[in-house]
This record gives sequence, C-alpha cells and structure tokens, in this order.
Amino acid sequence: MTTTQRSALGARELALRERANGVIPGGMYGHMNVQAFSSVHPQFMVSGDGCRVTDADGREYLDLMCGWGPVILGHRHSAVTSAIVDQLGRGDCLDGTSPVAVEFAELLVDTIPSADWAMFVKNGSDATTTCVTLARAATGRAKVMVAHGAYHGAVPWCALRGAGIVAQDQANLVHYEYNDLASAHWAADEAGADLAAIVVCPMRHDIRCEQELVDPEFARGLRALADRTGAVLILDDVRCGFRLDLGGSWEPLGVRPDLSAWSKAIANGQALGAITGTEALRDAARSIYITGSFWYAAVPFAAGLATLTELRKGEALPRIAAAGTRLREGLASQAASHGLEIRQTGPVQMPLLSFAGDVEFRTSTAWAEAAAVRGVYLHPWHNWFLSAAHTDDDIDAILQRTDDAFTAVSRS
Ligand SMILES: Cc1ncc(COP(=O)(O)O)c(C=O)c1O
Repeated sequence: MTTTQRSALGARELALRERANGVIPGGMYGHMNVQAFSSVHPQFMVSGDGCRVTDADGREYLDLMCGWGPVILGHRHSAVTSAIVDQLGRGDCLDGTSPVAVEFAELLVDTIPSADWAMFVKNGSDATTTCVTLARAATGRAKVMVAHGAYHGAVPWCALRGAGIVAQDQANLVHYEYNDLASAHWAADEAGADLAAIVVCPMRHDIRCEQELVDPEFARGLRALADRTGAVLILDDVRCGFRLDLGGSWEPLGVRPDLSAWSKAIANGQALGAITGTEALRDAARSIYITGSFWYAAVPFAAGLATLTELRKGEALPRIAAAGTRLREGLASQAASHGLEIRQTGPVQMPLLSFAGDVEFRTSTAWAEAAAVRGVYLHPWHNWFLSAAHTDDDIDAILQRTDDAFTAVSRS
C-alpha cells in the first residue's frame, strides 16, 4: 500500500455492485450502504486482519471503523478465532443451550457491577427492545422516554427513519433532549403514571452530529428521576459497551442502570447481544417470552467468552485509549498545520472529526473520501472505533495518509 492516490472504485467492486443491484433492493441497505456516505468507499470487503481490511479488488485499508464497532480486539484475533474454531468442531446450533452460555453469563455478571443476571439475544435492536418489554412487564406501564435523535435500533418502536413505520408504532414514546435534565422532567410529567422506562445512551453519538459526552449531573439526575417515578433506567450500551469501561460506560460516574443493553463489541464480531439487569428485575425477566432460532447458537458465546476473557486481562482498553489519544493529537496538529479548523468530539476510543462550519458534512465527506483513496477507512459523519490491534505504528501510518487527505481538502 502506498500513500499515493488510487483511482476510485476497482473493477471487481463495480462488477459486484452491478450484480447486487439485480438481486438486492437498492444494491445494499442500512448503515453499510456506502452510497449513502461516499462515492469512493468500497461496498464489498473480503477479509480483515488486525486493524486492516481488504476490499474485493485486493486493496488494503487501515481500519478506523472496526466493522462499525464489533471488532474490539482486532479482526481475526487469535484467541477469539481459536475459540470459534474449537466450538465449531463440537457444533453450533444444537437442540439445547451450550454450557458456554452459562459460563459467559457468569463472566458478565462478575464483570458488570449493575448485573445480577444476563439474557442473550442476537443484536443491539433485540437487546434494547427486550429491555423495553421487560421494563413494561416489571411496571405494568407503557410509556418510554428516549432522547430526540438517539438511535436504539432499526425496529418500528424506535426507528428514526425509513418507510413502513406508522404513528402507532411509536405512540408510547416521549422525547427529551440529551444532557437537558429539565426536558427529561417535562417528558416524565407528560408520561405521568404510565412511565415504564427511561432509555439513554452513555453519550450522545447521533449520526450527522458532533458527539457529546454525558454531563455527570444529567446522568445522576436521570437515575434520581427513575427512582422517583418508579420507571426502569435502561442504559443502551450497545455502541459504547466494553470500549470505555468493562463494568459499563456509566460505571466511572457511579451511576448504575437497572437494565443494560449490550451487543457490538461483546463477541469481537460474532452475532450476539445481551441484556443485564438487577436482582429487582429478575422476576420480570423470567416473565417475558423472548426467543429466536439462532439465539442459543454456541459459537457466539464461545467468542464472547474469549473476548471478555482477553479484555479482562487489562491490556486492551488502555491500548485502545492510547491509540485514540495518539490519533487525536496527530490529527489536531495536522489540521492546525494546514490552517484547517476541526473539531474532534466523543471519547478518543470512539472519535469523530468534523470541520468548523461544515454543517452539511461536505468537507468531512471530501476528507473521508481523500483518506479512503489513500487507504484509510473512516466515516464522514458516524463515529469511528479504535481497537486493541491499533499499534502506535499503525496510527502513524494512518496519520501519514490523513495528512495527505488534509492537503487535498485544503487545496479544493
Ligand atoms: C446505541 C445503539 N443502540 C442500538 C443499536 C442497534 O444495534 P444493532 O444494529 O446490532 O441491532 C445500535 C447500532 O448501531 C446502537 O448504536
């Protein structure tokens, strides 16, 4: 790989796009539809290794998206891969749950101070939806508070956009503004005695927005509001979970949720989500009926166990933070040297770079595209993710290319 600019899309990529257009509506869908954010990022990837991914034309990228969150230890991490291969050798979808699910639940309960039990699902949307069902079962109430613009999954009760959602799907939602406690109190008043749950993300990481860390007073205020109203406090840790703090993203603040939703990084890329909760909610958890054909598959549990075991050794999270800090400092000094005013928001482990005054993210898009053609995969308006596979040398290699990308946008 060189830092010289490559021509936009490769021949295999173009051929795959054409075939996909014939059999997949729109050619692709959802967050991985690259045409929604770039004209040069490849839609198709064939392999990953550590902090590198390779597209269908054999082009390698230094990866700052990490599978859009799941890959926390690096692509094909050796301990996780051998756990997967080992379990595959014994079987995956069996007629009963593998004991490894119990082992993983025990490890989660031992790792997360707010967890007295765990239940498992397949993805983040399942996890947040189950939390809401469980809160309703526990309280006998219907209304759910969510922050304006916050993403909790692509399911009708909380989807932010898309056709096919009817008003009734979201009739029980009441909105508040993130980090605005007064608005949360108004929302709780509006819900009145029917408030079942307050759902909140550990920070504001809405797409097409600068990220915003949580104000600790807001977090404490939501906890107090839930206690006062008898609502269940649900922390949607799907995106941040395990990258910021193994015990839960609000653990450093001393604010413990009643329920947490987990997914993404929980099994270094295998399909798994979890709900953890307090003793007080155990009976409600037992009362709901949730299930799925693949929810008991053993391989993701084995991957989760290997991932969490590795994370608990204590080296991965400091490495991720160190890599993120090196990246942030490098980008700041590069932008300054090019006379460009940038903003870097969110924690260093999950950064986002934006350009001052660039409300439509046009400069960000040009810069992300300039980085992509130079072999760095990052996003113009969705937060990025660092992994434990990012060494200082990798970050320096990324910075070499982003410097050229800054040159490209400062010339245009
Ligand atoms: C905060 C949050 N909640 C829920 C979800 C939904 O997770 P999934 O895409 O695994 O269904 C996401 C996905 O990005 C998320 O970021």
